[in-house]
Amino acid sequence: MKFFLDTADVKEIREGWNMGLVDGVTTNPSLVAKTGRKFKEVLEEICSFLSGPVSAEVVGIEAEGMVKEGRELAKIHKNIVVKIPLLKEGLKAVRILTQENIRTNVTLCFSSNQALLAAKAGATYISPFIGRLDDQGQVGMDLIRDIKTIYSNYGFKTEILVASIRHPIHILEAAKIGADVATMPFEVLDKLLKHPLTDIGLKKFLDDWKKVPG
Ligand code: E4P
Repeated sequence: MKFFLDTADVKEIREGWNMGLVDGVTTNPSLVAKTGRKFKEVLEEICSFLSGPVSAEVVGIEAEGMVKEGRELAKIHKNIVVKIPLLKEGLKAVRILTQENIRTNVTLCFSSNQALLAAKAGATYISPFIGRLDDQGQVGMDLIRDIKTIYSNYGFKTEILVASIRHPIHILEAAKIGADVATMPFEVLDKLLKHPLTDIGLKKFLDDWKKVPG
């Protein structure tokens, strides 16, 4: 399973990258706004040290505008993946960008049928938002299971990128289903590492070691 960091905070991305556990990055307009920095500048900095896919979202809502923005974003670096919202116009843009060998990540997916359409349009990644479904009382992980079945049934190459991850159980469940990628905030990556019994066990080993002669 690939791990992407879901942030535009370059400091966090550097830290995750240096841990050797991060395979890519996803950003969205809200995450970029939090940095207070220029979008292009943030993307260039990320791509200067991280050699994996970096999703950058368009803000147009008409196919023509999205394609134009997508082409510009793709020029920034070969690792940029153009993130497109799951709209009719968005899927038209995905088809065009795919024909131009520009990779796409179709975002704001909340149903299996939407995911089916994105795969048919040729999306490189589909981003189902499981946390936002959980937030409104729907089991987000059921969507991942259904998309996995549908994509396997027809041999679609589109990768399932589990998005809107809130906690480690989301990662565990997505991994059991066999999702291709999980994109997570830095704090979730950090939580995956931790277990109180590891800390207690280490303390005991180190205390006992002090009793060993020599
Ligand atoms: C990633 O591609 C998505 O934009 C992100 O995971 C959304 O997460 P949120 O629901 O926590 O905003």
